[in-house]
Amino acid sequence: MDIEAIQITFESEIQNLKSAEELEGLRIKYLGRKGIIAHLTSQIPSLPQSERAGFGKRVNSLKDKITALIEEKQRNLSLNQGISQGAGADIGMPGIAQELGRLHLLTQVIDEICDIFQRMGFSVVVGPEIETEYNNFTGLNIPLEHPSREAFDTFYIQDYPKLLLRSHTSPVQIRAMKAQKPPLAIIAPGRVYRPDAVDASHSFMFHQIEGFMVDQDIKFSDLKGVLEVFAKGVFGEDIKMRFRPHFFPFTEPSAEVDISCIICNGKGCSVCGRKGWLEILGAGMIHPKVLKNVGYDFKKYSGFAFGMGVERIAMLKYGINDIRLFFENDLRFLKQF
Ligand code: DAH
Repeated sequence: MDIEAIQITFESEIQNLKSAEELEGLRIKYLGRKGIIAHLTSQIPSLPQSERAGFGKRVNSLKDKITALIEEKQRNLSLNQGISQGAGADIGMPGIAQELGRLHLLTQVIDEICDIFQRMGFSVVVGPEIETEYNNFTGLNIPLEHPSREAFDTFYIQDYPKLLLRSHTSPVQIRAMKAQKPPLAIIAPGRVYRPDAVDASHSFMFHQIEGFMVDQDIKFSDLKGVLEVFAKGVFGEDIKMRFRPHFFPFTEPSAEVDISCIICNGKGCSVCGRKGWLEILGAGMIHPKVLKNVGYDFKKYSGFAFGMGVERIAMLKYGINDIRLFFENDLRFLKQF
């Protein structure tokens, strides 16, 4: 038998087969006990003495070649099989799309607001959520008898020295001003805590962004200009602003700031309570006593400060009517933003 012809036949047969069963059949046909190789070997004794060694060698090398090709084919078949059948998968099917995660809406809004202020030269500073009574109240000129100090308005967590969960981000003013000399322009986002019963508009934990700027000759008009850039950046160029006189212990004069209602454009609707205006933040000129408390020369320096609730801004901007949605982390809600 022509060994070369056998090899050529084998090579074409192995190339065309597609399954492990077929390959096993081929292996038995060539390498099996009654296979072609065995048949060739059995012919050796009947050959003339002079041809035996040469023929035997060629049979052996054919056997090695066939064995190697079968092993290689086995590896290839089991690889493909792993993909096409192994886990019940079909390589012809479209892949499973990887869902991308996203930032929580509150993180997005905080980032957006901080970005607007950073473009105006403000730096982001964060303070701790556990604060001293001094930073949260006393340093900010909040008198001892002020109702916000009561246990039903503040979470106290330690008696001596007195520690609490900050009830606003204003204590970052005290920390930052004690650490740095003017001029400074700082924006301070973070969590705050108040023992409020949870409902559609109250949460025991929420987010605020504090902003403040101190230098020589800072005026109320600087505050107005900065807040106007902020409001237009978040709510659009057409938004109008108004300042209503108010009182905060840490600012003088103080104001509450409204924007024209983004739902009815100022005409009056249910969202703005027919007023046409929505309150978005508190602000004012930093009280000289606060500047004095941090060791600033209040005759030389002046500054403004403001504080806003992030959830409120996000609810207004995106038409969300329940603050609890931010914290339930229902993906059907979160995925919309
Ligand atoms: N800390 C105030 C609050 O939580 C908000 C605030 C009002 C902050 C006026 C300020 C400000 O910096 O000037 O209600």
